[in-house]
Amino acid sequence: MDLCVFCLLLLSLQCVKGTATYYTLKPNVMVVVRERGLSMTQVPLLCGESYERDTIVWRIKGREVAQGNQVNVNVVMMQGGNYTCHAQSGALLNHTLVLVQAMDRRILDRSPDSDYLHCLSKNYSGVFQCSWRWSQTRKERAPDLFLVTASRSSVELTCTLGPSGQSITCRDHSHCPYSEERRRITLAVYVKNQFRVEKYTQAFYIADIVKPDRIPVTRLDTRSLEWGYPDTWSTPGSYFPLTFQVKEISRRHNCDCEGHGRRRCRMALHTTEGLQWPVRRGFLVCVRAQDALCNSTWSDWSLVRTNSTGAGGTKNNRKQKVKVNNRKGEKGL
Ligand SMILES: *[C@@H]1O[C@H](CO)[C@@H](O)[C@H](O)[C@H]1NC(C)=O
Ligand SMILES: *[C@@H]1O[C@H](CO)[C@@H](O)[C@H](O)[C@H]1NC(C)=O
Ligand SMILES: *[C@@H]1O[C@H](CO)[C@@H](O)[C@H](O)[C@H]1NC(C)=O
Ligand SMILES: *[C@@H]1O[C@H](CO)[C@@H](O)[C@H](O)[C@H]1NC(C)=O
Repeated sequence: MDLCVFCLLLLSLQCVKGTATYYTLKPNVMVVVRERGLSMTQVPLLCGESYERDTIVWRIKGREVAQGNQVNVNVVMMQGGNYTCHAQSGALLNHTLVLVQAMDRRILDRSPDSDYLHCLSKNYSGVFQCSWRWSQTRKERAPDLFLVTASRSSVELTCTLGPSGQSITCRDHSHCPYSEERRRITLAVYVKNQFRVEKYTQAFYIADIVKPDRIPVTRLDTRSLEWGYPDTWSTPGSYFPLTFQVKEISRRHNCDCEGHGRRRCRMALHTTEGLQWPVRRGFLVCVRAQDALCNSTWSDWSLVRTNSTGAGGTKNNRKQKVKVNNRKGEKGL
C-alpha cells in the first residue's frame, strides 16, 4: 500500500507522524519507545555494510515495505514487527526485530509491599537475587523474559536466570563487603509479548537490599533458647553485627501476630543484641534478625514452639519440649 494513502487512512484515527526515541537493545533488535499521541514513527534499518552496492528489498511478513540497504521504515506505534532484508533473488540476508516499548505495565505484577522487581541479598558479598511475577492475565499468553542487564558504574555484572524463569542471581565481582558503596547497581529487565516490550528498572545499593536468612535457634536447656548468625551472613560477625527482635506470643498464633486487631493475639516485643533468651511458659517465641548498623529488611521469623502441659499451673518446666521451626535452606525467593 502506498504509505501516503496508508497515513491518510490513519488520519481519521488521528494519525500523528513524528520521531520517537529508538535504541538498539541487542544485535538485530531495535526498540521504539512509544509516545503518547504519536501513532507512527520512522525507524532507520540497515541490512548490512557489505550490501551497499546490492539491490536490497525489505519485507515484513513477506510483504515488501522498502527498497535499499539503508532505509527508513514507518512503524505503527502499536505494532512493531520482524523486518527481513533480501537480495534480488529473494534470499534472506538479515533481519531487524522492531519492538515497541510500552509506557504502561501489563506483563509483570507489582507485589503489594514492593515494586515489580524484588531484590534481596543474604549478605554483603555482592551476590544478590531479584525476582518478579508474571501478571495473572498474561500467564496463558506466555510472555518471554527477553533480556536482563545489571551494571554498576557502567561495569556489567554477570547474572544467571533461575530455574523458574522468574528470578536471576547476579554477582558484582568488584564489590568490596568492607567498604561503603559509592554507586548504585542498576538492573533492567525486559519482558516481551509478541512485538511489545516492557522495561522494568531498579537501582539500589547492596546495603538497601540486605535481608539475613532465617536465624538458627536451638534450645540451650529447658528454660532458655539460643540462636546464632545465619551461615549465609557476612563474617566476621563483629564487623557485621545483627540485632534481634524477639516476639513472645500467646499460643495458637503465629509470628504474624501484631498484638492489635484480634484480642486473642497477645504479644510482647523485645529487641536484643544477645544470643540467648529465657522461655516464658505458655508463650511461643519468634525471633528475627536485622543488620544492626542499617535499617534494612528483617529476616523472616524463626518460630520456636515450646510444648507445655497447659498454660499457667505449675512451674514445672521439665516437660517442655522445644521444636525449632527454622526452615533452613529455604529459598528467600
Ligand atoms: C545483520 O544485522 C546486524 C544488526 O544490524 C549486523 O550487526 C550484522 O553485521 C548484519 N549482518 C551482515 C551479514 O551484514
Ligand atoms: C525474525 O526473522 C528472522 C529471519 O527469518 C528469524 O531468524 C527470527 O527468528 C525472527 N524473529 C522473530 C522474533 O520472529
Ligand atoms: C551470600 O548471599 C548470597 C545470596 O544473596 C548467597 O548465594 C551466598 O551463598 C551467600 N554467601 C555465603 C558465604 O553464604
Ligand atoms: C526503618 O525502616 C522502616 C521501614 O522502612 C521505617 O518504618 C522505620 O521508621 C525506620 N526506622 C528508623 C530508625 O529509621
